[in-house]
Amino acid sequence: MGTKIIGIGHYVPERVVTNNDLAKVMETTDEWIQARSGIKERRYGSDDQSTSDLAYEATQAALKSAEVGKDSIECIILATLSPDHMFPGSAVFLQEKLGLAGVPAMDVRTQCSGFLYSLSVAKAYIESGMYKRVLVVGAEVHSKGLDFSNEGRDVAVLFGDGAGAVILEQSDSTDDGILDISLGADGKYAKDLWVPAPGTAFKKWFEPGMAEERLLFPQMNGRKVFQMATTMMEKLARDTLLKHNLTEQDIDLVICHQANARIIEFVRKSLEWDQSKFFINIDRYGNTTAASIPIALSEALLQEKVKPGSKVLLLAFGSGFTWGSALISL
Ligand code: UT7
Repeated sequence: MGTKIIGIGHYVPERVVTNNDLAKVMETTDEWIQARSGIKERRYGSDDQSTSDLAYEATQAALKSAEVGKDSIECIILATLSPDHMFPGSAVFLQEKLGLAGVPAMDVRTQCSGFLYSLSVAKAYIESGMYKRVLVVGAEVHSKGLDFSNEGRDVAVLFGDGAGAVILEQSDSTDDGILDISLGADGKYAKDLWVPAPGTAFKKWFEPGMAEERLLFPQMNGRKVFQMATTMMEKLARDTLLKHNLTEQDIDLVICHQANARIIEFVRKSLEWDQSKFFINIDRYGNTTAASIPIALSEALLQEKVKPGSKVLLLAFGSGFTWGSALISL
């Protein structure tokens, strides 16, 4: 039994925020941001848009692409680090918006690797026979949780809002769909990219002083992330190819988590692969964390960079640190 992808869709909010827009509120420049990250602009949701709203729009696009009705979905998995509320998870808010009362709905919290971790859960459910059709969504609203002061500028300029979704279905064939997924994590790096508070590691879950100490904002050891991301994504690519006895020629497209164009270029150069094999859209969206891979996959299809039958290698790395790769055949 296999798991095939029958629909892919994405949604990004209308509001475009350029690097020059950010330079009006913090000490930064378009040159600095582009040179360090390859980002030119990103999208920010409106005040009344939450993560589950973006996830809902991406789901509608995926359902349309799959040409199936929502009522056939048997399970909802939503990857996000920017939930609508602390609890319950945002998947139940998405479920309610979709009108799918009774369908199991859960969040996966593995940040930039969230989409691949979610795919692995869906694949396991489907191939164990538990569910036949599963919705997997990656969605983020970062714009409401960033520190736009000079102290937060290293992180704030990198992130954007968006959502991507896939519909997965049980299949008799193991030759197409999600062929393989590998996952990993190393918690000793947990504090190299994190939002410390609120949380039960503190004496009180929340105290007003946490805001003043900037504990509510993402904090990042940028150099450590860069070094580990490049090392791990190259290793994931090499290991996947070796395991499946494939070469660069067998892969039609590589979709890396869009964290930073320099990270992707570093990985590409280390692998000595052609530039045309690597999909890039970080210039327009910034880092959308769990949403970045499904948004890229959806755009790659729309731009006809891939078509049914194409083999795609997905690579993710991020906070945790967590990482993963997936080999898929569309
Ligand atoms: O999913 C994971 C997402 N995270 C990433 O992908 C991050 C990976 N890391 C990186 O890409 C890089 O480490 C950064 C782009 C975050 C930073 O680049 P860097 O070359 O490591 O810069 P840096 O942190 O060493 O900072 C260089 C300078 C500093 O000024 P001084 O101390 O040299 O005077 C920073 O204060 O750049 C300054 N700086 C900025 N300047 C303008 C930091 N952020 C900004 C900014 N605009 N937004």
